[in-house]
Amino acid sequence: MSGSLMPAGPSAVVSGLGTCLPPRVVSNEELSRQLDTSDEWIVRRTGIRRRHVIEPGSSTSVLATEAGRRALKSAQCDRADAVVLATSTPDRPCPATAPEVASALGLGPVPAFDVAAVCAGFVYALATGAGLISTGVAQRVLVIGADTFSTILDPEDRTTRAIFGDGAGAVVLRRGEPDEPGALGPFDLGSDGELAELIMIPAGGSRQRATGVPAAAGGEYFAMQGKPVFKQAVIRMSESVRRVLALAGWSVGQVDRLVAHQANSRILSALADHLTVPHDRVVSNIDRVGNTVAASIPLALADGGLQPGEKVLITSFGGGLSWGSTVLSWPDVIPG
Ligand code: COA
Repeated sequence: MSGSLMPAGPSAVVSGLGTCLPPRVVSNEELSRQLDTSDEWIVRRTGIRRRHVIEPGSSTSVLATEAGRRALKSAQCDRADAVVLATSTPDRPCPATAPEVASALGLGPVPAFDVAAVCAGFVYALATGAGLISTGVAQRVLVIGADTFSTILDPEDRTTRAIFGDGAGAVVLRRGEPDEPGALGPFDLGSDGELAELIMIPAGGSRQRATGVPAAAGGEYFAMQGKPVFKQAVIRMSESVRRVLALAGWSVGQVDRLVAHQANSRILSALADHLTVPHDRVVSNIDRVGNTVAASIPLALADGGLQPGEKVLITSFGGGLSWGSTVLSWPDVIPG
């Protein structure tokens, strides 16, 4: 149920980082005026105070393109040989969104494709980008995580509307050496499809369409079973972290900063306790952005105040179920 990847040959080195949040901010107070909820409940149960959402007419590709542009600028380059976009809210069900992003960035006819692993998507995309480099397919890869969950939430669902926000983040990976700052270490990736029903959009895919019956009311909305997801998130990320640390030869005590998927501040605390990572080493920006799905890890990397040379542990978990972890020594990059 779990796979690991030790980098073979050239390494993928993080050389740029960029993010994009849509300008519109939705506060807990605004949500409380629309739904039966309160700032007090949302902060106490999730740690979230506000989130960003796109305006009508915008889309995932708009955020992804801007984050990609800023990541390329941060890397002081204007080209990439491939684009890997992690998203579960593509502009359209078909085709993938990444080719339009590559074109909008003026990258030419480069390979570009989407990776769908929900909140674990960015780590899956990082591993994919590293694979493109180690196999010689690309010298430089733009890896983007972008999602606009505001477009798939049930407007009446006070729980999911409190949790999710829109956003995008991107890194540039370049071919380099394994001992360089920024070189991605080993990966641990895994999935468990037996628990797929915990996080899903029931309608709109081949399973529902093949019945010939229109989707049931609300079937097009994102649905989540909060309590079991909470438990699975802590268990799966803890296990994945232990595996990736063993592969990297790092002890927990060597980890300077833990950058985990920002799903709930209580999940971050429980994870830190499980792993015995001091809480002041845990990066958290969930109060400002909520759960931004595939954008969560790069937004946290950019907001974390990471210092060059710090040992950074990245872990994420989401629908599928799916999860993934990796490590790196933080490079000297200025987030754009
Ligand atoms: N405002 C007020 N009350 C709310 C609420 C809201 N926004 N959302 C849910 N509630 C209510 C519930 O209806 C329930 O009421 P009831 O007891 O009358 O039935 C009560 O709060 C407790 O609900 P419960 O689901 O037990 O709360 P919880 O403490 O488990 O917190 C989550 C709910 C969703 C915040 C929490 O389970 C969670 O974060 N799960 C993980 C979600 C996640 O990470 N998803 C993404 C995975 S990548």
